[in-house]
Amino acid sequence: MFPTERPRRLRRTPALRRLVAETTLSASDLVAPLFVAEGRSEPTPILSLPGHFQHTVGSLVDEVKALQQAGVNAVILFGVPETKDDRGSGAWDPNGIAQVALRALRDTFGDEMVIMADLCLDEYTSHGHCGVLRDDGTVDNDATLELYAATALAQVDAGAAVVAPSGMMDGQVGAIREALDESGHLDTVIMAYAAKYASGLYGPFREAVGVQIQGGGDRRSYQQDYANRREALREARADVEQGADIVMVKPAMTYLDIVSDLAREIDVPLCAYHVSGEYAMIKAAGQNGWIDASAVALEQLTAVRRAGADFVLTYFAREVAEELGR
Ligand code: PBG
Repeated sequence: MFPTERPRRLRRTPALRRLVAETTLSASDLVAPLFVAEGRSEPTPILSLPGHFQHTVGSLVDEVKALQQAGVNAVILFGVPETKDDRGSGAWDPNGIAQVALRALRDTFGDEMVIMADLCLDEYTSHGHCGVLRDDGTVDNDATLELYAATALAQVDAGAAVVAPSGMMDGQVGAIREALDESGHLDTVIMAYAAKYASGLYGPFREAVGVQIQGGGDRRSYQQDYANRREALREARADVEQGADIVMVKPAMTYLDIVSDLAREIDVPLCAYHVSGEYAMIKAAGQNGWIDASAVALEQLTAVRRAGADFVLTYFAREVAEELGR
């Protein structure tokens, strides 16, 4: 008997495959995470993120130009301060490194690029947690919210069009939205890290921003437990109710079920963060000749879109955008 169903017909040529592809990936679907460090005269390579640097303000601007050239529309900025303290005051200091860099980006690119600021304290706290600590060492949710609000204002004043709270404090979106509204920043977009899991995949990022959590601690008391699926929906709904314009799932590949749930249930734009460990794994295997790194990058980023994300934050942004443009 010959089969009557012949799906292979539509796979015969590249043109046919392109015609029937359900999912597309283009440079404008990518957001590039970038690091800027205080007090450096040269960009410093981040060893666990090959091809990435702790930038100076000057090299940051050059990198964003290259991204723009490749068709990438958006960047998300992380600051690496020279000094840290227990309240993370560099995060909201108008002369803190992120603010200095945001001003340079605004002056250079204006609204031609979407300038996003990651909004958290961990890069700036001496203890490495995403919030302030009580005397007993636990993270004080509500005291942290005030500092997030102050940070949002500093970032927006410096030129951020989008603020992206990543600390997983309860009520963080509402607190930031209220502070922005009260100061007349009605057009600032809030992109909420809504479903952010306590993941082993953030290791290279912590090297990139010089964060070590005090006493070998972890973030399991505020980031989500990877055993759980339903609570991601509660988190995302709460964020939308509090005024989030965009919600995010993070990391990406191990959480495609969550991306798919949120795509179905939530009606604001959805993105996923393909995080540092995901990038590093692909790069490392590629460097060993064990996988074709660019092919795997394309496959994974397309899969994130297929699961339902509108766009993807990825350390592959420039590389993949340049590849797509060839
Ligand atoms: C917290 C933050 C982290 C990342 C983005 N924002 C680290 C963490 O939660 O420990 C990780 C990003 C990555 O691994 O690429 N400010």
